Amino acid sequence: MEIKSIKQSAKLMQAILLSVYLSMSCGILGIGDEKADDSDLLLGLALLSMNQSGGNNFNWSEYLPQGFPIPRVPDNNPITKEKVELGRFLFYEKKLSGNNTKSCGSCHFQNLAFTDGVPHPQGVAHSGNSEGDFHPRNSQPLFNVAYNSRQTWNNILLVTLEQQAEGPLFGDNPVELGLFKREEEVREKILSDPSYRELFSKAFPGEKEPISIRNIIRSIASFQRVLFSGNSAFDKATYQGNRSALSPAARRGFNFFSSEIAECFHCHDGVNFNDSTFHENTSARIEPLYHNNALYNIPGTGNPSNNQGLKEVTGEERHRGGMKAPSLRNVGVTFPYMHDGSINCDPANNPHLPAGQSNGATLEGCARQALGRVLDHYSRGGFNSTCAAYTTPGGTRNPDFPCLSDTPQITVDTTLIRPFPMNAQEKEDLIEFLLSLTDENFLKDPRFSDPF
Ligand code: HEC
Ligand code: HEC
Repeated sequence: MEIKSIKQSAKLMQAILLSVYLSMSCGILGIGDEKADDSDLLLGLALLSMNQSGGNNFNWSEYLPQGFPIPRVPDNNPITKEKVELGRFLFYEKKLSGNNTKSCGSCHFQNLAFTDGVPHPQGVAHSGNSEGDFHPRNSQPLFNVAYNSRQTWNNILLVTLEQQAEGPLFGDNPVELGLFKREEEVREKILSDPSYRELFSKAFPGEKEPISIRNIIRSIASFQRVLFSGNSAFDKATYQGNRSALSPAARRGFNFFSSEIAECFHCHDGVNFNDSTFHENTSARIEPLYHNNALYNIPGTGNPSNNQGLKEVTGEERHRGGMKAPSLRNVGVTFPYMHDGSINCDPANNPHLPAGQSNGATLEGCARQALGRVLDHYSRGGFNSTCAAYTTPGGTRNPDFPCLSDTPQITVDTTLIRPFPMNAQEKEDLIEFLLSLTDENFLKDPRFSDPF
């Protein structure tokens, strides 16, 4: 009887925690028609009010790579060409920040597949911090995000791109664009710019006051929905039938990637090389998956205290270190890797750093070295093997990897993350395969570039 009531109060506590989290991260604007998603989540149903109808009349073929499925679109934000075009302006609009210095595009650069090349991006300066806060996590790439069943590294509550956009715009922890409680001010800034009036009237025809926070968010989400990337060498060889587009080495690498030895494909699979992809023809009930790939094994906290993964949202120990598996498309330009940017190349090889620039470092050179480190991480079973292995090829201890304990974290899936043999040839082939996922057209497609 007693145990039961403790369990019940734990359940209640969790529900309270979840609703607090929701009011922090999704409910800031109280967008009424998105609330249905929130209460579904509280019940653990995770049913989405999304279907194909939101995208019915849209000419997807203009954007969709060959062989790619049509994504789902929320019913309450049907996609149109006009919204996509307006959204592009707003994505790069610096007026959408507290001090007019940053936009979404300030942490999401097109030439880097909409990442930013640094481990932790910095938000705008605000009253508590004249330099701007560093985000605890690495900027995620933005392509094929229309297929995400959840947004961000670890927030299972963020279902739609509309919900996600509220975070960087109006969130206060961390401060990204610095507009916490400043919705009216933003609306007025956009209202006072005559060029936006026409764009909003076209995108939201028939609305009396088309310039609203809700419509800003709807347009940015629509723009992100067409950021498709699917024209890499790998795609040419698979979806487009041009077998010779993929080098023999990349082909061997793909086979190793898809083997029960390396196990990569279990978590990085499907059209987007992650396991939380859904689209028009997937069932409405999605069980998003989060994994702890054994980056850290710190006694007591397992993962660094500011990055506990899914546990931060659910409070459950078994979710410690759980992150959404990232897509591996364009991974040749999205270093530094992992949720905290902790796997990178040496500074002298990093074209984003002064040391690398003076050395003539290239994106490919840095990616090759950093991906090699990712592969070493996996082949030694993450932190589950002995400490001696956690050294750089030069023999020095990598400071990004606090090697404190050999006991695996209970939250690591040790059936998939465990040591496996990988010789030099296999490693090189795997890197060739990962580099074959770069879509050069996407990185310079003028439809996605900064219009200002
Ligand atoms: C200060 C840098 C910064 C700014 C500004 C910023 N982002 Fe991000 N973005 C990030 C980081 C960091 C993450 C990972 C967040 C996390 O996991 O907590 C992210 C994640 C995302 C994701 C999730 C992608 C996925 O695959 O799950 C989307 C979508 C996104 N951002 C869109 C936007 C939009 C839209 C804006 C502007 C309204 C924006 N971002 C502004 C840094 C930024
Ligand atoms: C158990 C699931 C799982 C398996 C198996 C797995 N990964 Fe991952 N992978 C993840 C997760 C989760 C992350 C993000 C982890 C984090 O940041 O804490 C990740 C991150 C990565 C990244 C960094 C990408 C980025 O943009 O930051 C690369 C590259 C990668 N994995 C490649 C591989 C390869 C190659 C294999 C096979 C050798 C593999 N993964 C096996 C789940 C997995």
